[in-house]
Amino acid sequence: MAEVVIVGSPEEGGALAASLIARVVAAKPDAVLGLATGSTPLPVWQALARLQLDLGAVRGFALDEYIGLEPGHPESYRAVIDREVVGPLGLTPSLVHVPAEGLSGAALAGAGQAYEARIDAAGGVDLQVLGIGRTGHIGFNEPGSSLASLTRVKTLTEWTRRDNARFFGGDVTRVPLHCVTQGLGTILRARSLVLLAWGESKADAVAAAVEGPVTASVPASVIQLHRDVTVVIDESAAAGLRYADYYREAWTSRPAWLR
Ligand code: F6R
Repeated sequence: MAEVVIVGSPEEGGALAASLIARVVAAKPDAVLGLATGSTPLPVWQALARLQLDLGAVRGFALDEYIGLEPGHPESYRAVIDREVVGPLGLTPSLVHVPAEGLSGAALAGAGQAYEARIDAAGGVDLQVLGIGRTGHIGFNEPGSSLASLTRVKTLTEWTRRDNARFFGGDVTRVPLHCVTQGLGTILRARSLVLLAWGESKADAVAAAVEGPVTASVPASVIQLHRDVTVVIDESAAAGLRYADYYREAWTSRPAWLR
């Protein structure tokens, strides 16, 4: 584990994460970003857009995608990525990939391997942006996911489907049951991870992921095995952390040469 940064607001956290992305892109203009969807990363994309960087050469890989939505569905992660990320940040659409695109039925069995090959061909992910679900999922790796898993089809928990029903008119029956998601092993291969969380509803999951045992029962706890992780959370999401004061002190007292 690298750093836990407790910020005053999602906006502040978004600006911090955007500065980490900007640093990666300054060193490598065609950097490969791993893209989370959902509500959490929105302040990051907004802060990054304000920096007005030229991101036209940046490549992107979405973490996951629902199975079973009709093509062009506004809540498909392809549509969300296009709307929230590609357009506002000026990414090149053909350089941004979503798993299982255009595949259905039996063809989905090979979607994971094809996505892994695509990530490998791009040279791997430089910086992976992650949100966290209340079940402790990252990507859509629900409890019980293998810590070594690669991209594959998964079944969403009822809990996650209820959480995501807000994107489907509040109707849980409209939230797909299945998805294709990067695995925990895929996520661990990224060169750096930035995990974000805002609000008290995430406090238990954050505490279990950051300070609990590494276990498939809390898939996000796998980040403890990565060498370069920055956890950016607001005060409410940090509420369950035993060592919060220590993380604050470590961050504010960083020597200038470490910044
Ligand atoms: C989305 C994803 C999920 C979300 C998580 C939190 O691509 O992989 O792990 O990050 O479900 O969702 P929000 O941010 O909507 O609370």
